[in-house]
Amino acid sequence: MNILVTGGAGFIGSNHIRFLLENTRDRVVNLDLLTYAGNLENLAGCEDDPRYRFVRGDIRDRELVRSLLKGEAIEAVVHFAAESHVDRSVEGPEVFVTTNVLGTEILLEESKAAGVGRFVMVSTDEVYGSLGSEGFFTEQSPLAPNSPYAASKAAADLLCRAFFKTFGFPVIVTRCSNNYGPYQFPEKLIPLMIANALEGKPLPVYGDGLQVRDWLYVGDHCRAIDLALRQGRPGAIYNIGGGNEQRNLDLVKLLLDRLQRGHDLITFVADRPGHDRRYAIDASHIRAELGWAPTVDFASGLTRTIDWYLANRPWWEKIRSGEYTAYYAKMYGAGGRHGGTGDA
Ligand code: NAD
Ligand code: DAU
Repeated sequence: MNILVTGGAGFIGSNHIRFLLENTRDRVVNLDLLTYAGNLENLAGCEDDPRYRFVRGDIRDRELVRSLLKGEAIEAVVHFAAESHVDRSVEGPEVFVTTNVLGTEILLEESKAAGVGRFVMVSTDEVYGSLGSEGFFTEQSPLAPNSPYAASKAAADLLCRAFFKTFGFPVIVTRCSNNYGPYQFPEKLIPLMIANALEGKPLPVYGDGLQVRDWLYVGDHCRAIDLALRQGRPGAIYNIGGGNEQRNLDLVKLLLDRLQRGHDLITFVADRPGHDRRYAIDASHIRAELGWAPTVDFASGLTRTIDWYLANRPWWEKIRSGEYTAYYAKMYGAGGRHGGTGDA
């Protein structure tokens, strides 16, 4: 099969391309704009595989998308490309709308016109908004996105529904909880805290740190997406989650313990506006229909992740010494949105 992967130079997309090259015989074309979050070093070694091709380009470029789908005889699309960081969407929502909404619409329309046979939309559990202390998100939960990022993903997710209902276009939507693992950009909680701890810098915990996320190892997410691609029902939605709820503060303390650093590095900072309190996924639908279950427990997933960041220091040090430093200073420096300090 010829598969177009969008956003394949990012965190989950690059893990997914490695998964495809290692576990299938498919050809993979990776369309990625290489924004600040895209990094070809995430795909080191893949370029040597004759089944892999990288194209630098924008999913909002209709002509490019059209010619790629036709020229590469694409049969399936796995759509990761997005602006993915909630805090950035608070600072500047517009690019979230153009990339996440308009970009998805262009991909859907052109894929339909090109006769693509399967289209997997990698959506997110953030479309459901926030839970109280009880309950889980099911595929029937109402959509109630709270950040511009989540709203843009919800819009893209619903466009997929519309393309299935209106045109019968075979879209499958996945809604996953928080991923962790190798190649995650160090603006996200786990890699940011690992890198700061290793450099002896403060670990900025938003608000009271009692928000809850449901963590899933990235390899388990890739397996679920691939199952959805090959065996999922067109028009279906699949929630994907680790069944692994952690409070942010507990997770940060665990990381410090694993890295043998003191809890005094924890610094409470101003909360994220509109911060969702708790996410928790009910994954019984994908379990029952596709036989998927997570295989990596949190303790060993975290060990793998920490070991990867220890062994690949140059990868994240390069990011943290480049353009990203300006973002970090703006968000976490004096006068920045999360610029306050406090003690653990
Ligand atoms: P990421 O930010 O690491 O990667 C995004 C990639 O998309 C980058 O390589 C970037 O260059 C590319 N991109 C951005 N705009 C583009 C454009 N206009 N055209 C082409 N490429 C473009 O993101 P991630 O964490 O790997 O997330 C991937 C997808 O999975 C996103 O759609 C996200 O919403 C979804 N998701 C992420 C998580 C998570 O925990 N990280 C959980 C559920 C769903
Ligand atoms: O749930 C899926 C979503 O998970 C994806 O759709 C998003 O693309 C992905 O970024 C992630 O969103 P979160 O906002 O949950 O992830 P993030 O790593 O930014 O934050 C995780 C939690 O940690 C959240 O409650 C905010 C908190 N946090 C984050 C940062 C960066 C802090 O306390 N301090 C920080 O410095």
